[in-house]
Amino acid sequence: LYGPQRPNAKGINLMINSQVEPLLDALKPWDQHLWQGGPLLAQAVTPDLQRQQAVTSPFDASQQVGQIQWATAEQAQAALDAAALAFPRWNAQPVAQRAALLRHVADLLEEHFAELMALCAREAGKQLKDGVAEIREAVDFCRYYANQAEEQMGQARVLPGPTGESNELYLTGKGVFVAISPWNFPVAIFLGQVVAALVAGNTVIAKPAEQTSLVAYRCVELLYQAGVPRDVVQLLPGLGREIGPVLTSDPRVTGVAFTGSTATAQNINLSLAQRHNAPLAALVAETGGQNAMLVDSTALPEQVVADVVESAFASAGQRCSALRVLFLQEDIADKVEDLLAGAMQELQIGDPRDLATDVGPVIDQAARTQLQEHIEHFRQQGRVIAETQLPEAWQQKGQFIAPVAIRLNSLDELETERFGPILHILRYRATEIDQVIESINRCGYGLTFGIQSRNESFAAYIDQRIRVGNVYINRNMIGAVVGVQPFGGMGLSGTGPKAGGPHYLLRFVTERTRTINT
Ligand code: SER
Repeated sequence: LYGPQRPNAKGINLMINSQVEPLLDALKPWDQHLWQGGPLLAQAVTPDLQRQQAVTSPFDASQQVGQIQWATAEQAQAALDAAALAFPRWNAQPVAQRAALLRHVADLLEEHFAELMALCAREAGKQLKDGVAEIREAVDFCRYYANQAEEQMGQARVLPGPTGESNELYLTGKGVFVAISPWNFPVAIFLGQVVAALVAGNTVIAKPAEQTSLVAYRCVELLYQAGVPRDVVQLLPGLGREIGPVLTSDPRVTGVAFTGSTATAQNINLSLAQRHNAPLAALVAETGGQNAMLVDSTALPEQVVADVVESAFASAGQRCSALRVLFLQEDIADKVEDLLAGAMQELQIGDPRDLATDVGPVIDQAARTQLQEHIEHFRQQGRVIAETQLPEAWQQKGQFIAPVAIRLNSLDELETERFGPILHILRYRATEIDQVIESINRCGYGLTFGIQSRNESFAAYIDQRIRVGNVYINRNMIGAVVGVQPFGGMGLSGTGPKAGGPHYLLRFVTERTRTINT
């Protein structure tokens, strides 16, 4: 599938029967499995029934997935003690050894892909297609960061200096990193953060999203199986409000990798800054977006619709990269909207484990309620212009939101990101293009952006003016590939550096020079 320049994992092609059948067979044993998980600390943890939570599926509340034990604030303290103690030993290991562990983790992920995919489907409601991409991305992160670490940290850089003196510059771990990860990429983003910090020489305390703690637990077990010592990576599943502040207020923490909402990133930043006698910590934050796509009258309507449907509704719109606002130049708008309404009729909503499903559930009841309120607000004003039918069988069973397209009058009507299968549409006149760009830049987010146009100079004009991290021209705007489209935004969308890019690890290390008088 990929040439020698593309070391990415191949994954599974769901268009090829001979690849699909073995996948479905491999998934079968995990269909009724019940998983158990809890804190993973340097020291063994005693089971505590009081802190056990039942985990159920977002697509069917009657489906049990397993049990997870929430960590306590005391366990968070114990994890910090162990991580701080383990750091010098871990950081002193040759980078090649740490990189070898990451490659071993990648192999284990491939070996356990069926279990991990089943967990992604049952715990997070991920469709099979997304599950394949998820495991593949996690494998890619491990191999990519292993290579990057060896390249960037393997050898000190010799610097010129006066005769009789040797000078060199090298990179070394920072200390204790906290990794706080989201539920929408519960394997790929979770592991991406952890292994980047780890291979750079840091010890890591991982706090996964509450909704996807079981799959995070299995990932950390695989890290241990690969040979990562228990005090080097520890897992604290639990409530963010209980665990988060204990971690981010501790003076021993030297960095935080966070993916989630902009507001939480700001709180973490504040908490890190308010510590006394503590290092000025690194914050690597990937946050929200208000991602737009701009379509001019030269675009191909059929391609626009295919790319819009994929960008807005794949993964039930629960990607940071997903399209939220479609700007249509008025000459092409009627045609695109008609085709879009037709395409939306064809989308199948249902069980994410069913290959025919195009749109699975949203993550939980709270998300569903918020999204429903947003849609109802516009429905009452007659501004829902197209939607997919939600089959009756799924209406009560799980957390489903049918894809919907809403007419907007101005971008100011959207205060916050709506993390679901909701597409907002705005029309513009060709003469208004500079105001359109200005309005998008003014919201302050800057993650992904799409341009559909066959006029190259128009596309270049927009590309130069729009302030975002990832621009996609004449294609969909989701599914960034490690090492191919390094991913991350600017402004309210994140600090950078980009995940899966050559500068990511540099945020997890500290630079040192060594001068020797020879
Ligand atoms: N990396 C993901 C994507 O590109 C982020 O949500 O879709």
